Amino acid sequence: MSKSPMTDVASSLTQSVARQYDLFQTSLELLQKDRKFLNYGYTVSGTETHEARQQRLCLEVFQAAEIGKDDVLIDVGFGSGEQDFLLSNACEFRRLIGFNISERQVRYANERAIRENLAHKLSFRLGEAECLSGVEGSSVDRVLAIECAFYFDRPRFYERAAHVLKPGGLVVLADIAFADCAAFLTRRAEDLRRVGTQSSNRTAWERHFCTRSVRRINEHTRPGAQMTVWQILKTAPFSRLTAAERHEWLKMAFYTQLVALGLQVSFIQYDLIVLQKT
Ligand SMILES: C[S@@+](CC[C@H](N)C(=O)[O-])C[C@H]1O[C@@H](n2cnc3c(N)ncnc32)[C@H](O)[C@@H]1O
Repeated sequence: MSKSPMTDVASSLTQSVARQYDLFQTSLELLQKDRKFLNYGYTVSGTETHEARQQRLCLEVFQAAEIGKDDVLIDVGFGSGEQDFLLSNACEFRRLIGFNISERQVRYANERAIRENLAHKLSFRLGEAECLSGVEGSSVDRVLAIECAFYFDRPRFYERAAHVLKPGGLVVLADIAFADCAAFLTRRAEDLRRVGTQSSNRTAWERHFCTRSVRRINEHTRPGAQMTVWQILKTAPFSRLTAAERHEWLKMAFYTQLVALGLQVSFIQYDLIVLQKT
């Protein structure tokens, strides 16, 4: 791949997240995981498989986005792109451009789009959600962000999303933030500051959008977070992963356990958010 459009400007935090997801992608490919979602999932009955829950979370976002057949979509933080292949089966739209900071995930998604004859419709770019390089103003109908906005410099992301969206366009997020009572945690470190609190995030997005809806989905997502921890602990230590990959998965299991606890005691909130550009 040619020189990265993001490494010159990305913060060291963003670069370290990119390295982390490169390692996740390497191991998902090595383990030949069939569906490569990387989210906590959404449960209704409590009996679904982990992958069915992960897929359902994406479907909840698609439904909230009310996607039309002529729509141009942007998907930021798309993981391996699994959600976009799902979307192309689930509904009609004109074109989707994905942005992700993990070079390996971008490469995987583009190769898959070619293999599945979807490259005319799905294209995946290396770049930050905060920049959306190469996208013209007022050219996009929907911006989707599934379980990734807590990594972003949110004020820059909301501003840029508002710029590329057409009037009336929507941003739909499956998003994790600290409850306001846990605001003190966001003052401890840059990565926690980016997670933000429900109120600070709302203040930031309402500079550019009106809030259409915020639906609390803690009860639907927490059991999947707990499942994710067990899935990782079952696989990571015993598989053929490198030490670096194992380290990242175990770190992820640890943080996911904290998120599951945070959701349980309502220190952390998981929301499905729909914002509209006026
Ligand atoms: C938890 S994963 C979610 C993946 C996918 N949305 C899913 O639900 O399976 C977070 C994703 O966000 C991406 N990401 C993190 N920071 C980003 C940024 N600033 N711009 C674009 N993508 C970013 C990561 O590389 C990773 O693919």
